[in-house]
Amino acid sequence: MTSTQPGLDGRIALVTGGTSGIGRATAVQLAREGAEVIVHGRDADRGEQVVAEITRAGGKARFIAADLSDPAEIRRLADEAGEVGVLVNNAGFSWFGPTADLDVATYDALFDANVRAPYFLVAALAPRMAANGGGSIVNVASMAGTVGLAGGAAYGGTKATLTAMTRAWAAEFSPSGVRVNAVAPGPVFTAADPERIEALGATTPLGRAAQADEIAQVITFLASPAAAYVTGATVAADGGRTAI
Ligand SMILES: NC(=O)c1ccc[n+]([C@@H]2O[C@H](COP(=O)([O-])OP(=O)(O)OC[C@H]3O[C@@H](n4cnc5c(N)ncnc54)[C@H](OP(=O)(O)O)[C@@H]3O)[C@@H](O)[C@H]2O)c1
Repeated sequence: MTSTQPGLDGRIALVTGGTSGIGRATAVQLAREGAEVIVHGRDADRGEQVVAEITRAGGKARFIAADLSDPAEIRRLADEAGEVGVLVNNAGFSWFGPTADLDVATYDALFDANVRAPYFLVAALAPRMAANGGGSIVNVASMAGTVGLAGGAAYGGTKATLTAMTRAWAAEFSPSGVRVNAVAPGPVFTAADPERIEALGATTPLGRAAQADEIAQVITFLASPAAAYVTGATVAADGGRTAI
């Protein structure tokens, strides 16, 4: 496929949660734009499938397994990834249900995966990007961080935190050439409950949920030099849901 954006040739891009859904689509698109992609996840079989898909298409990729709920694994991932120019903080999960039904362990797991992991990956990698002359970080937030979704208080809290951190990191690192942005998707057909995603999609002005590729396009744009003057932004890719 022909590239439509100023290239990412030669850049090393780490995509967390690249074994599935939005992360997988992003890994494939970044490779198509010329990036050398590090596909991260826990499931090595699916990781190798993504690497194979990229290399079959003529791109470059390798897989690193790490459980981001463990801070030592976050440090190891950052060390093994090396000098990355693009970091996509995509790995994460959601939990929806009555507030009183969320147990403490799941609450902690949500904040560990969705907030603590991106925090310490940025802490490890952004200073190195700055020392190398710059880079681009894209955090995958959610419309749940902006609108009130019944049953989504904790999940929405993690994603609102991620957008707040995005702005603070833009202030901290952009003077050294590291752009930091977020994409806030609406409902996307991935691994999660398709009926819930479809019903949420029906509440958007576009009247449907997204495919993972449609979110990956926005992430790829923000990661690329085409977005050279964009930093500190949270871009809604939600079918207009947060506009109404
Ligand atoms: N789908 C939606 O409707 C939607 C909407 C808004 C925002 N988002 C956000 O988009 C991101 C991707 O979601 P998705 O729907 O594409 O999810 P998905 O298909 O379930 O994929 C999640 C990815 O994150 C990885 N992951 C999760 N927890 C991890 C952990 N503790 N350590 C390491 N890897 C971990 C998984 O790795 P393995 O499978 O290899 O273990 C997988 O690659 C998430 O941050 C999610 O909150 C999704």
